[in-house]
Amino acid sequence: MAALARSQPVAGFMQANRFTRGMASRFVGGDSAAAALSKSIGLSARGVAISLNYLGEYLTSPAAIEENVAQIETAVGLLGSSALDVHVSIYPTQIGYALSAPLGEANGLRIARLLAAQPPSGRRRLLMLDMEDFPLVQPTLDLRARLARSGCPTAITMQAYLHRTGRDLHDLVADGAAAIRLVKGAFAERRERAWTARADVDREYLAQAAYLLSAEARSGGLYPIFATHDEAMIRAVAAIAARNLWRPEEYEFEMLYGVRPPLQRQIVSQGRRLRLYVPFGTEWWPYTMHRIGENPANARLVLSALWNSRA
Ligand code: FDA
Repeated sequence: MAALARSQPVAGFMQANRFTRGMASRFVGGDSAAAALSKSIGLSARGVAISLNYLGEYLTSPAAIEENVAQIETAVGLLGSSALDVHVSIYPTQIGYALSAPLGEANGLRIARLLAAQPPSGRRRLLMLDMEDFPLVQPTLDLRARLARSGCPTAITMQAYLHRTGRDLHDLVADGAAAIRLVKGAFAERRERAWTARADVDREYLAQAAYLLSAEARSGGLYPIFATHDEAMIRAVAAIAARNLWRPEEYEFEMLYGVRPPLQRQIVSQGRRLRLYVPFGTEWWPYTMHRIGENPANARLVLSALWNSRA
């Protein structure tokens, strides 16, 4: 799956093929911001909120970075005219951080100011910074602080597996961060920096969740977001929240669109807030293959799409 995800010729063939495009629609919101918005409207009717992300990361070409920023701006503009509860999620390396930090910061400000300028909707509209590998952690924290100082509504993703995260969370809460999305962490990090055993990562996730659901975090005005597909984590987080008297509307869970739909329905039916991360764009092949690779049962999706694409 990893090799298929990385292969440029395979990506080119698949992204142009109508049968495999059908397979992607299980995980991706569509080719364009307009398609993603229409998918988001359908999903919102089922009681979920949305995070939109334009597919593309680790960009070093100025033209590709500009194209990404323009696409994100289009999405922000479309959202502004809707009543949807949407966060716009961006990777720092898709807006310039793989080329130059000042360019990334300037583009981050551009997007965040546009988001802040949208007509009020009564919804919490946030620019959510995704967190990439270790060298980007401090630049991403710096970007959040810069955007917050400019009055732009900005949230940040924090990785529970990093040793530094406990300290960073305290700093973020002390700085009045609007929202923090807690994830386990997706990159292969060195042992000096990160917990690598599953039990350690789960323990850290719950310890940090408890801090994000503490009286200290609440008095700082924090809105905590728990992004995980792990049912045990979801149950434990909900129990901590109930113990600390957080109402269901004061925090939320977030999952990837298309991953574990029965668990997603269960969360909504329990009266809990759920946000779905809906990526969009033409470069959907690597993202789709990664999602499929996370669950071997999904391999039949690839096989049947490949079989149909022979025609
Ligand atoms: P875990 O990996 O233990 O999975 C829990 C269960 O879900 C397992 O049973 C697993 O099999 C199942 N599952 C997972 N994927 C599946 C799939 N595709 N199909 C079917 N079952 C599946 N990371 C990061 O470093 N920076 C970031 O910015 C983000 N952003 C982000 C946003 C959102 C909304 C989510 C949900 C996740 C991220 N992540 C991330 C990824 C995160 O760090 C982590 O790698 C994954 O969420 C996997 O960890 P879980 O907590 O889901 O648990």
